[in-house]
Amino acid sequence: MTTDKQSANNPVFERRESEARSYCRGFPTTFAKAQGSIMTATDGTEYIDFLAGCSSLNYGHNDADMKAALVEHITNDGIAHGLDMYTEEKAKWLEAYENIVLKPRGMDDYKVMMTGPTGTNAVEAAMKLARKITGRRNIISFTNGFHGMTMGSLSLTGNAGKRGGAGTPLGGVTHMPYEGAMGEGVDTLAFIETMLDNGSSGVDAPAAFIFEPVQGEGGLNAASKEWMEGIAKLAKKHGALLIVDDIQAGIGRTGKYFGFEGMDIEPDLITQAKSLSGFGLPFACLLIKREYDVWKPAEHNGTFRGNTHAFVTGRVALEKFWADKDAMEASTAEKAEILEKGLGKLADLMPGAYLKGRGFMRGVDVGSGELAGDICARAFEKGLIIETSGADDEVVKVLAALNIPNDVLQKGLDIVVDAAREVLNENHKYAAE
Ligand SMILES: Cc1ncc(COP(=O)(O)O)c(C=O)c1O
Repeated sequence: MTTDKQSANNPVFERRESEARSYCRGFPTTFAKAQGSIMTATDGTEYIDFLAGCSSLNYGHNDADMKAALVEHITNDGIAHGLDMYTEEKAKWLEAYENIVLKPRGMDDYKVMMTGPTGTNAVEAAMKLARKITGRRNIISFTNGFHGMTMGSLSLTGNAGKRGGAGTPLGGVTHMPYEGAMGEGVDTLAFIETMLDNGSSGVDAPAAFIFEPVQGEGGLNAASKEWMEGIAKLAKKHGALLIVDDIQAGIGRTGKYFGFEGMDIEPDLITQAKSLSGFGLPFACLLIKREYDVWKPAEHNGTFRGNTHAFVTGRVALEKFWADKDAMEASTAEKAEILEKGLGKLADLMPGAYLKGRGFMRGVDVGSGELAGDICARAFEKGLIIETSGADDEVVKVLAALNIPNDVLQKGLDIVVDAAREVLNENHKYAAE
């Protein structure tokens, strides 16, 4: 995309780093420091961060309390890597997770599996476990869903470009329409039920259904309570497990700790990653309903399962932000209102543009990937890091930290609105027809 600017910055990236690099192409500068919701480039330019490590930094950059706990742990020669051996820090994190996340939500019945450190590995574990439990192969995933880039999770992912990278057929999955995917007024639940009830539909009995409560990469499509509950019922009816991929929508992003919280569903398996460490450190896990924890020891092994440094920061994050869940939810709700108003102004600039998402996971479908990309590029020039999402990258998407100060949030929103206004004024190609 912007290779000239990149090489002007530091030629080593273009010279040495693989063409697979991605985010750096949209934000062509070299970053040196970050604090809270501000990232600072080597040249001293400050940027408001509306990307937050793609929701891996839900509490902003370098939270002082997490940083202090981590520095103390390292300084005291605390364990840095312990495979999945018992460590003091793992015990402390598990206890905090139990007391702050699981028990207050009536979820005492879940066990925590330490998977490999990225979201995709938690998804792979969920797929393997569902297949092992049911003895079935087929997994139902949804249009526009994104679940990761390793072979199993990629087979669940909808995006053709990403699937194309596999270089081999991806099987064992039936893709069904997510809510709204067949146009307004089409009941996708009824469609899926018809397909599954018809023994001649060609859809094999499923081992599991997997969905995102809000589709993060797929364009911020937010499923309704009714739809999620309908899928849960269908899973039960057909003897399939219900997997909620909460990797992007979870950990406060939609306003509550879990993206499905408040819905009358009890997923059998829940994937978590991204902001689990609270500090941007790699850490993922799979929550498993106790009755389904039928793994044999080491059956889903890995060198990096449970990241001790992430246990330290993740525990502090839970204690600091979630011990008082009502305060956290109220704060996010307040910021979500500011976000909605700001994005409403953005949508108002373009006929047909509309708001998407839920809670603090919102964006605007501006109708074309080119326009959304131009808006984000101009916003970056004005000091804002903001990305697109959607099948054609047509959604300008905000993933700001949950604790971004209100004035910084407002400033970022003003920048994106100004950026859009300028892009629209300067480009005849975007003139309303
Ligand atoms: C919903 C969802 N699932 C899985 C993943 C994969 O996580 P990771 O990139 O850590 O492998 C992502 C990443 O964006 C995601 O949004």
